[in-house]
Amino acid sequence: MILLKSPKEIDKIRVSCRIVKETLDLLKTKVRPGISTKELNKIGEEFICSKKAKPAFKGYMGYPAGVCTSINDEIVHGIPSDRKLQDTDIISLDVGVWLDGYFGDAARTFAVSTNVSQEAQQLMRITEESLELAVAAAKAGNRLYDISYAVQSHVEAQGYSVVRQFVGHGIGASLHEDPQIPNFGKPHTGIKLKSGMVLAIEPMINIGGYEIEVLDDGWTAVTKDGSLSAHFEHTVYISDKRVEILA
Ligand code: MF3
Ligand code: CO
Repeated sequence: MILLKSPKEIDKIRVSCRIVKETLDLLKTKVRPGISTKELNKIGEEFICSKKAKPAFKGYMGYPAGVCTSINDEIVHGIPSDRKLQDTDIISLDVGVWLDGYFGDAARTFAVSTNVSQEAQQLMRITEESLELAVAAAKAGNRLYDISYAVQSHVEAQGYSVVRQFVGHGIGASLHEDPQIPNFGKPHTGIKLKSGMVLAIEPMINIGGYEIEVLDDGWTAVTKDGSLSAHFEHTVYISDKRVEILA
């Protein structure tokens, strides 16, 4: 069941999303060689709490931190640790915020320095572009898997692969609501997109194969073949007139 949001609910989601965006903007300025993922997490959590909001991921199904930090071949759900970033790393930061009953959720992948490889930079660019195309496809009147196809067609044209085991999702008073939004699918199929839907669209793209493994920590998802992976996520609101990126 897909919950359509009222204007009042959109306003609350908008506030949570603004904090998500500000957190990611802040963390972007802190990403550099030598900083640990635990330090990044602390900065993120403290910022969110300073806004009287809650880091939504902390304690969710037992996840221990407020910011997911996933380096290189780590796809999503990396756990902050004392590992320090290196100049050639890429790092995905995923932030969720809860305030006044409503969630916001977004992620971006950053280069730790300009020393990251050309192939890593291209992966990030194509993944971000695929999210932009997916957002453009998320118009009222289109169908759900138009979003999925927008991601898949763009990244597979580059020889990349779409992670199958994790999907985007509806979001609102719960972090994960219907519908599930795979990043692969057949265009012009799936439910019709309607005004009032709020969706977290989140392509996770690997240079190599799409197979994943979860590390012994029970959370960190990595590429099975060790290839690099990137992750970009927006929370978007579908209104009659346009698709609005909230975070
Ligand atoms: N953006 C991810 C999601 O929507 C992050 C979840 S991390 C978790 O599923 F810890 F909350 F699981
Ligand atoms: Co999400």
